[in-house]
Amino acid sequence: MPPIRIETLTFSPAICTALSEILVETVAHGGSVSFMHPLSLAVADAFWRDSLASAARNERIVLGAFDGDTLIGTVTLLLNLPPNQPHRAEIAKMMTRVSHRHRGVATVLLRAAERMAIARGRSLLVLDTAEDEGAGGLYERLGFNLTGVIPDYALKPDGGFTGTLIYWKRLSDTPPSPI
Ligand SMILES: CC(C)(COP(=O)(O)OP(=O)(O)OC[C@H]1O[C@@H](n2cnc3c(N)ncnc32)[C@H](O)[C@@H]1OP(=O)(O)O)[C@@H](O)C(=O)NCCC(=O)NCCS
Repeated sequence: MPPIRIETLTFSPAICTALSEILVETVAHGGSVSFMHPLSLAVADAFWRDSLASAARNERIVLGAFDGDTLIGTVTLLLNLPPNQPHRAEIAKMMTRVSHRHRGVATVLLRAAERMAIARGRSLLVLDTAEDEGAGGLYERLGFNLTGVIPDYALKPDGGFTGTLIYWKRLSDTPPSPI
């Protein structure tokens, strides 16, 4: 496979459509990313329009991974946290197209998200992922620490509860100094 290109995404109808197709596909394949199956393209599109509007306000960064001109993966870095947590960021909506999984796309996206968090002065990353069919192995390989499990946290896309795993990772060797 040619090298994957990572870009910061901004709003365009084409980008919104590509992100929506990834979200609908992910949910249809059992991915736990806040939505239930079946997810309509219209609902997915509304979600991404809101998300990219938030990115335009510098509240988050939406990254895309491209194979040629095709969007094959995405991850979001959430930056708009409460005033007492300016050193922290959260990882969300980590998804790779089914056709491109197990080729390192998510790994490259997460490393780019970490670099962007560091560039914005963030020293702590936090995320959660489903206990059933989530991405715990991926995050642990990238050095995230498992805090624990919250049982019955969310519904899976086809129904039935799943727990969630809470992970964190320091992005610097030293804890943040109080401001
Ligand atoms: C979780 C998810 C994003 C992973 O995407 P991905 O691009 O396949 O991830 P990677 O390829 O970087 O890593 C996945 C696995 O492939 C393996 N892998 C990576 N590169 C590889 C390669 N070149 N050849 C073979 N295997 C490889 C990794 O070791 C990893 O294994 P592990 O998860 O058992 O540790 C994807 O499965 C997905 O979209 N799932 C549904 C949504 C979801 O659950 N998202 C997480 C919400 S928090």
